[in-house]
Amino acid sequence: LHVLVLAGGLSYERDVSLRSGRRVLDALRAVGVQAELRDADVALLPALTADPPDAVVIALHGATGEDGSLRGVLDLWDVPYVGCDARSSRLAWDKPSAKAVLREAGIPTPDWVALPHDRFSELGAVAVLDRIVDRLGLPLMVKPAQGGSGLGAAVVREAASLPAAMVGCFAYDQTALVERYVPGMDVAVSVLDLGKGPQALPPVEIVPRNGVYDYAARYTAGRTTWHAPARLDAATTARVTEVALAAHTALGLRDVSRVDLIVDAGGQPHVLEVNVSPGMTETSLLPLAIQAAGLDFGRVLGTLVTRAAA
Ligand code: DAL
Ligand code: MG
Repeated sequence: LHVLVLAGGLSYERDVSLRSGRRVLDALRAVGVQAELRDADVALLPALTADPPDAVVIALHGATGEDGSLRGVLDLWDVPYVGCDARSSRLAWDKPSAKAVLREAGIPTPDWVALPHDRFSELGAVAVLDRIVDRLGLPLMVKPAQGGSGLGAAVVREAASLPAAMVGCFAYDQTALVERYVPGMDVAVSVLDLGKGPQALPPVEIVPRNGVYDYAARYTAGRTTWHAPARLDAATTARVTEVALAAHTALGLRDVSRVDLIVDAGGQPHVLEVNVSPGMTETSLLPLAIQAAGLDFGRVLGTLVTRAAA
């Protein structure tokens, strides 16, 4: 079996992706899978044609890797890959679209407004932002409609700091997602299908040391503490797990995903987003969840590539 691990690319999460890619490569090699790491650059397509791999692992985060475009190309080239298909990736990657599907399916997700930058020039920034605060209240969470790793995201506790948060967000995307901020426990539930249908791994509780799970907290050792499994009672764990599986299914996802949620003080989960290309770095949540489930990261990857190649 010859496996190509794709990492890097030109998204804002390039550095994270390179770290994910190296870890995936090491884990596959550790279980005897012949794997090679390569960047998703302009030379990729000729290389795929000249020497097609048996399967691809997409360790690319952000645009291209998560938005379905690369997956569509792999489909066209008939190159098998681990993970969600092009259509469902495109859906999950666009947070407002994904949230609309979740809400339609009865899965709790915080109230939101999707705001394209153009709306400001039409109506004036002050009027638009006032209307959002009227509608959603405070605090708010502002993030790029398409993005990851906390880049361009900010918690807004008072109306006066909303404009700056919007500017920070529009640096990363043309459209902002403004969400009602739900206080509670940050939890990630990874969903894995090793051939017997999607199963939820133990929920991982995220406790950032300075209270905010931003880029630095995600990728700097020592900035975040995790509890795997999360410190939730059995009934809440069951509810969180059920909601995560429902989200994975509602979006039509395949093989592996990570559902990020807030569990509020009443034990109610609220889905924030679903990742089709979850981080696999030393400080990422999917490898932690795999370990918490008593599984080996390399063996899990080995099973996924074998299934993809079959
Ligand atoms: N976007 C990062 C890689 C994650 O969700 O883990
Ligand atoms: Mg994400």
